[in-house]
Amino acid sequence: VILVLDFGSQTAQLIARRVREQHVFCQIVRHDLTVERIRELNPRGLILSGGPASVYGENSPQPDPAIFDLEIPILGICYGMQLACRSQGSEVSPGQHREFGRTACHVVEGGDLFAGVPEESIVWMSHGDQVQDLSDHFTALATTDTCPFAAVKHHTREIYGLQFHPEVTHTEHGGTLLGNFVRTICGCTGGWRMSEFIQQEVELLRERVGNNRVICGLSGGVDSSVVAALLYEAIGSQLSCILVDNGLLRAGEAESVVTCFQDHFKTDLHVVRAEELFLKELAGVTDPQRKRKIIGKLFIDVFRKEAESIPDATFLAQGTLYPDVIESGADPDGPAATIKAHHNVGGLPAELGFELIEPLRDLFKDEVRAMGLELNLPEEMVWRHPFPGPGLAVRCLGEVRKERLETLREADAIVIDELTKAGLYREVRQAFAVLLPIQSVGVMGDDRTYDDVIAVRAVATDDFMTADWFHVPYEVLGRISTRIINNVRGVNRVTYDISSKPPSTIEWE
Ligand code: XMP
Repeated sequence: VILVLDFGSQTAQLIARRVREQHVFCQIVRHDLTVERIRELNPRGLILSGGPASVYGENSPQPDPAIFDLEIPILGICYGMQLACRSQGSEVSPGQHREFGRTACHVVEGGDLFAGVPEESIVWMSHGDQVQDLSDHFTALATTDTCPFAAVKHHTREIYGLQFHPEVTHTEHGGTLLGNFVRTICGCTGGWRMSEFIQQEVELLRERVGNNRVICGLSGGVDSSVVAALLYEAIGSQLSCILVDNGLLRAGEAESVVTCFQDHFKTDLHVVRAEELFLKELAGVTDPQRKRKIIGKLFIDVFRKEAESIPDATFLAQGTLYPDVIESGADPDGPAATIKAHHNVGGLPAELGFELIEPLRDLFKDEVRAMGLELNLPEEMVWRHPFPGPGLAVRCLGEVRKERLETLREADAIVIDELTKAGLYREVRQAFAVLLPIQSVGVMGDDRTYDDVIAVRAVATDDFMTADWFHVPYEVLGRISTRIINNVRGVNRVTYDISSKPPSTIEWE
């Protein structure tokens, strides 16, 4: 394993993902993990991340100083390099020029770290401070026009520093550099493969579950489907799945989950048809947060009731992913919790009375997809756009009524169908229709109409924290609009949402 010590970097997760792309397992840990704990974790190498502070600043995050004597290879990135150099006596202070963005980098003395990297290449810089001298201990491996020590190596120890960010894609040969560090310098063999990870997890799950029964909630989304597939691989018919059809799912969604389930898992499935109950409680409610609260609470009630009807169930499986674990501060070795708004609708509370199993808690989303494919889940399932827990209720602005949901469902299916036909479904990371709470005037034949308006939303994003509105070609927008207006009764106008996040959000409510 490689440990990334996180000094508050925006890109610590990116570093971990890049290392895993080299088939080397990698975890993010808090910056001040003690050397005793590091020894216990027995990593092959340490990467010190960047960070927003100045190494000489008061209260700046510092590692346990003894890490530099551990005789484990260390790669410091940006702030991490400044820490490493300063620990060996170099001076760090504000550079003459702050450097942000793409910069040409010249290799002076490459060595193992730069094997396979051309003499000239583009790197991504983002720093105000820089290392001012090499002390007696370092050699410069690469330079840029304004940064004489863009990459350094300790004379006698395996301590390396990069002032630029190899983890971002703008650094042309960043993957090669990280690969050289983890494979050549740390000696990792690169044996971390999804198929083997699945095997290990399957064995752990079998051991933990024994002869007991595990309940897994299915939502139709990637994470819950992959959890179910992995558990099925491990414990077969000891798995029971529950799908709550709250009447707020997309067109054909409950059916497609059931079909996919029956094709792949020969085990116990409980479909709870609860549409009436949800719609009754939602009647007359227009406030988005109230909708969320009602749906969240009902979901827990319905799920709990069904789960209690399953005898001898001991465990509840959840699709918690690695970013959730890091960001919630749930891992005692992990970096401290960052403040982040969490949507908790569609989740289950801890006090449901089951032991929790979270088999995806070491994985990033793209790794979950890879696992799904490895476990033979269909591609449509693995690449499905995320869908919020409160479902169509937060896309049916204003009151949530059965006939309004039906209008929205039909329009939404057309949006998805046209994007898929245009080959854009995967590139667009999330797309849907929204039913607005207003009517607009139209003309049909000789008659004036006063009908509903549909807004179409499509975004490009990596992490759903920020997003750009997607530039759907006009022809595709045209087809979406024509089909909706001609086929969905009661709609006479379609608009396209051209707002990015921030300041807008992806959903309208
Ligand atoms: P926003 O609208 O905040 O959405 O930009 C970001 C992502 O989160 C999804 N989302 C939710 N997911 N329960 C969920 O499980 C919710 O209440 C909820 N609200 C938004 C949204 O679909 C997008 O992917």
